[in-house]
Amino acid sequence: MTAKSTAPESAIAYAPATVANVAAGFDIMGFAVRAPGDEVTARLAGPPGVRIASIDGDGGALPREAQKNTAGVAALGLLSHVGSPAGVEIELRKRMPLGSGLGSSAASAAAAAVAVNELLGRPLNREALLPFCMEAERTACGAAHADNAAPALLGGFVLIRSCHPLDIVRIPVPEELACAVVHPHIEIRTEDARMILRNKITMKEAITQWGNTAGLIAGLTTGDYDLIGRSLNDVVIEPVRAILIPGFHRVKEAAAGAGALGCSISGSGPSIFALARGVESARKAGGAMSDVYREMGVECDLYVSEINRDGTVLE
Ligand code: HSE
Repeated sequence: MTAKSTAPESAIAYAPATVANVAAGFDIMGFAVRAPGDEVTARLAGPPGVRIASIDGDGGALPREAQKNTAGVAALGLLSHVGSPAGVEIELRKRMPLGSGLGSSAASAAAAAVAVNELLGRPLNREALLPFCMEAERTACGAAHADNAAPALLGGFVLIRSCHPLDIVRIPVPEELACAVVHPHIEIRTEDARMILRNKITMKEAITQWGNTAGLIAGLTTGDYDLIGRSLNDVVIEPVRAILIPGFHRVKEAAAGAGALGCSISGSGPSIFALARGVESARKAGGAMSDVYREMGVECDLYVSEINRDGTVLE
């Protein structure tokens, strides 16, 4: 716990987008990027509980009731956990697309949890805020997965070894590792992208997947970029979800052709990420990936950055 004596009247937090799954690590791995991200202002106001005062940038798509909104659910969970009688108003500025595979719901929850924790005089440390963000994820897609929420809160590359009990491991990231994320303007609801997954996989697929998951962690830990690249291979989820993403295989080939270490679906898609050695190399891969969408006449955004080691920051 980090005790702080004086609490502010209001607090502003920014939480970044995240790439979950990272190829072979469905629901157990994720990392943070620099942008886009969501911003939350929380202030002490009104009767006990949480109210969403405003949401900007969602085109009216998100629920305004605190119990149904991921920022509201995270804030309510925190207030209830610490037994606070405070009244809290939240302004949410969505600066990333919904249903993009960039961890939009987790970013709102993480920003709200950090801002409200600050308002309360910071009764909990960062990791202790994660369960409230996971509950928020359950509200958004029916599953309390942590592979977006943990890196959004903590930054860097995070392994969720177990959800029950929660066991979060921060994985070191080699200095030059960088990422390109291309977001084609198509919306895929995480709930739908989870529903189409198979319930059973073969032993052969499981063995390949374990090898790649462990290989990625080993590559990150030892700074072995080739091993990272060889391990960015998902034989379980990607083949199923790729059918939801027009041009996916062409984009993947373009990333490889431009020198990326590897490429796969970001979270539940439709965004596609590539990892590269160095920001320049990531920029080149990202350029080649977005060219595919340009040729297909599909609008897309490109985000290139190093791995964001900061996670949610107070402004
Ligand atoms: N692990 C989750 C999924 C992430 O792939 O469904 C959602 O962004």
